[in-house]
Amino acid sequence: ALKKQRTPVVWMNALDCTGCTESFLRDANVEKLLLNLITLEYNELLSAASGYQIEQNKESILEKHKGEYILIVEGAIPLKDEYLIIGGRSVREEIIAAAKGAKAVIAFGSCSAWGGLPAASPNPTESVSIAELVPDVPVVLVPGCPPIAEVMVGTLLHLLIYDTAPEIDRKGRPKMFYKQTVHQVCHRKPYFDQGLFAESYGDEGDLKGYCLFKLGCKGPSTFNTCESLGWNSMSCSPISAGSSCIGCSEKNFWDKGPLCYRK
Ligand code: SF4
Ligand code: SF4
Ligand code: F3S
Repeated sequence: ALKKQRTPVVWMNALDCTGCTESFLRDANVEKLLLNLITLEYNELLSAASGYQIEQNKESILEKHKGEYILIVEGAIPLKDEYLIIGGRSVREEIIAAAKGAKAVIAFGSCSAWGGLPAASPNPTESVSIAELVPDVPVVLVPGCPPIAEVMVGTLLHLLIYDTAPEIDRKGRPKMFYKQTVHQVCHRKPYFDQGLFAESYGDEGDLKGYCLFKLGCKGPSTFNTCESLGWNSMSCSPISAGSSCIGCSEKNFWDKGPLCYRK
């Protein structure tokens, strides 16, 4: 049964592009979640307050609701503090403290789950994932760049409804969303099985919807639910839009992506 009291959520952004927050807002039921189940106490993009007000509110929530609040981290965390100071304080230190007092910690996006773009070689800011920052704290990883809204909301809902994190795989991702590769359920897979491939974007094979494997598609080694769940409550995905998968939910995808991204 749903608890009547709303759960405080503190959403901290480190080195990020805010795309994960943007994606989160695309869930059809996000309003109900925000208004009925949680109190979003801190989010750089969504909080009405700013400056001292919002920082003070965050501090009081972390203190008053120790062991009760859910911490969401978006973005990789730079070990070089000078790259991320908010209100004169190191965000790295703030996230460590917030993670230690949280009831649960969720990493939204490949930046917080794996390091993502900020940690791409040569990683000048020495950015790390939340799990690397606080190895002694359990973290549920929801990778993707960004993750699909329903995957983020679904993970959060599981925590709120069952009062426990969803079952995770050996890498820390919820099994219910990351159990299959993009390739296993890809709508172009029948062409892969028949050996029918696009040789270049826009060629005859591409226009016929053939498999994009020869164009560097990372679907066979990428665990995500975009081909089964689709984006924005529709059956659309990067592959249905004509792009090969760049493996956005996998570790180091910025350094290991298709060759066309590394020219
Ligand atoms: Fe932006 Fe992608 Fe990082 Fe999310 S995971 S903050 S969308 S770069
Ligand atoms: Fe697999 Fe990519 Fe081909 Fe889809 S387009 S079948 S994911 S290789
Ligand atoms: Fe990302 Fe590949 Fe899906 S790029 S959104 S995992 S098709």
